[in-house]
Amino acid sequence: MILGRLTWGLLAVAVLSGLALAPFWSAARPLESLETLTGATPWGFWLRGVHALSAWGFLAGTVAHLVEVLWKKSDRRLSPAVWWRSVALLPVAVLALLGGFLMRGDAEAQAALAVWREVSASIPLAGPLLASLLLGVPGSDLAPVALHHAGTFTLLAWLLTAEHGGALVPDLRSTVLAALGSFAAAGLLPVSLGPALAPDGALLLGPWYLLGLQGALVVLPVFAGWLLPLLLVAAFGLVRHLEGRPRAALLAFVAAWGAGYLAFTIRLLFATR
Ligand code: HEM
Repeated sequence: MILGRLTWGLLAVAVLSGLALAPFWSAARPLESLETLTGATPWGFWLRGVHALSAWGFLAGTVAHLVEVLWKKSDRRLSPAVWWRSVALLPVAVLALLGGFLMRGDAEAQAALAVWREVSASIPLAGPLLASLLLGVPGSDLAPVALHHAGTFTLLAWLLTAEHGGALVPDLRSTVLAALGSFAAAGLLPVSLGPALAPDGALLLGPWYLLGLQGALVVLPVFAGWLLPLLLVAAFGLVRHLEGRPRAALLAFVAAWGAGYLAFTIRLLFATR
């Protein structure tokens, strides 16, 4: 499927552009290092754009590919174990992207870090340990976040995609296409970087793909931050095992989840106006 191959290519572009960005980024001074990159380094803003847009494309492609597979009912072509691991790519991709957002170090990223720490800590039993493992102890610099961004989640995303795609690297044509698309998009859409401190009373927004969850957390308890995504991932995984009405019911749940997510996103965006 062309969409799946292009998504694989976008991941390769995200990894390569991430490696190119790494020398410019500092864990101790994340925001200042990125301000220098975008404001004082030739093509710095573009390099950031290539990385962010290829990564967003990778997430959008993963979701679209998953929907396409379910629509065409081709999920049966994968063994149950491979299907579950392919579905796991969705949360892994979101965690990889979220780590990158936190690495900006601006006011929005700092607020997102605090929320993500609270959400992780609310996971029963392992929560507080997991929060420290993923994000470091409160007050530490962003080195642990960067390690999981460029290491753990990038490696997991690569391995899961490679198994799913049946090859260790994407094909050249998809990678070149993904690179050209990202290069062009990065010239047209500059990626924002906010101030270190937000104006008093300003509503800070998390990354665009998590706005629905942010909106839900305005009215739901903090554990909804991990429970809602878990329910969606479980539903995607279970679909592969069901036929007929139970499958249709589960797909209806997934559609309702998506509609609810969109509604919370829109509600939050209206609240910022
Ligand atoms: C070797 C692998 C990688 C390295 C060294 C790396 C490095 C970086 C660095 C230094 C930043 C901060 C710069 C900035 O915010 O503009 C960043 C941000 C980001 N990264 Fe990566 N990255 C890697 C892989 C990935 C992968 C695999 C993804 C997703 C599939 C990804 C998604 C992002 C995103 C979405 C941002 C935030 C962009 C923004 O909003 O400014 N990165 N990455």
